[in-house]
Amino acid sequence: MATITNIEDLKRIYRRRVPKMFYDYAESGSYTEQTFRENCSDFSQIRLRQKVAVDMSNRSTQSSMIGEKVAMPVALAPVGMTGMQCADGEIKAALAAKRFGVPFTLSTMSICSIEDVAEATQHPFWFQLYVMKDEDFVDAIIERARKANCSALVLTLDLQILGQRHKDLKNGLSAPPKMTLPTIINLATKWGWGLEMLKTKRRSFGNIVGHAKNVGDVSSLSSWTAEQFDEKLDWGKIARIRDQWGGKLILKGINDPDDARLAADFGADAIIVSNHGGRQLDGTASAIRMLPDIIRAVGNQVEVHMDSGIRSGQDVLKALALGARGTFIGRAFIYGLGAMGEEGVTKALEIIHKELDVTMALCGERDVHNLGRHNLLIAQDFL
Ligand code: FNR
Repeated sequence: MATITNIEDLKRIYRRRVPKMFYDYAESGSYTEQTFRENCSDFSQIRLRQKVAVDMSNRSTQSSMIGEKVAMPVALAPVGMTGMQCADGEIKAALAAKRFGVPFTLSTMSICSIEDVAEATQHPFWFQLYVMKDEDFVDAIIERARKANCSALVLTLDLQILGQRHKDLKNGLSAPPKMTLPTIINLATKWGWGLEMLKTKRRSFGNIVGHAKNVGDVSSLSSWTAEQFDEKLDWGKIARIRDQWGGKLILKGINDPDDARLAADFGADAIIVSNHGGRQLDGTASAIRMLPDIIRAVGNQVEVHMDSGIRSGQDVLKALALGARGTFIGRAFIYGLGAMGEEGVTKALEIIHKELDVTMALCGERDVHNLGRHNLLIAQDFL
């Protein structure tokens, strides 16, 4: 554990431990992966301003996201098939988030169901919804999230149609995975992962199997999901879901100032500036590059969060200094989970927290709320 000092270390262990098809599933973007790469590399174009000889004692990273207290403004993003990176992965990640004091978001496409996570954690979490054509399914899952005391609905808007990831197609990744010879060999060689998987019954999509029309078993799941993402999603449908949910609503997947303005006028509690970690529209700008324009467009009308490309506490600090109220991490916690389960997610959160804290101090700040553009030297094309 002592030799694991950054997120990259967790990624290396994760790569060794998890079958290639699931590693590739996480570690890929759509088409040329330009956006996937730039999400990370654009952070390094923002420089920090060093400040010396200021009292840096009594620092605090505590804040709030949509009114909920957080130990640092970093939530775990919804990640489909988290339970294939590690047995009962969603439960383990949610428990690590609970202990650390940050929000956990459960994906519609999770392996553990809403009820599994609620029962295991006894703690509120956020539920992410993909809008499906089957309205009965959407209505029922909103009801299930309400019953499980989910404290926010995160509605993902940037996946009405699937961005193509070459690696997934080449690996034959589908839900459920097709058992080709290379797949079987790969799964068999990752025996640590395999033994854990054998111990759990949760190996298929708990939110969907048995709950959606025509999906009684795993074998009919693949065709159902492929055709279910609602291409007709529009603001009218979003309003229907908002009214039905009635609670806190976060709109995820906004990467343009005009869309952000629409979302703010719509009355969402927060938006997440995001390009789905580079998995949807390849060639769109990185989320960190779009953040300043979006903040300018919406002012204080709506809370702005961001994700896509965060791999360190320094990245978090840059997003906050550009005006985000909160951030989400996707792959950064998946690396930890795949490497070492719950402990690995905790490690990822500790690493990011420490980096945020130390960087804040060296920038001469004691409180995350005081971070701002004055802490940054920003390349001209970011302004
Ligand atoms: C995702 N993301 C995602 N988003 C969502 O709303 N529902 C989902 O089910 C998924 N599934 C998913 C799977 C995997 C493997 C990844 C990597 C991502 C997107 C996710 O919530 C988030 O926007 C990105 O992960 C943020 O980028 P980083 O932090 O991974 O760079």
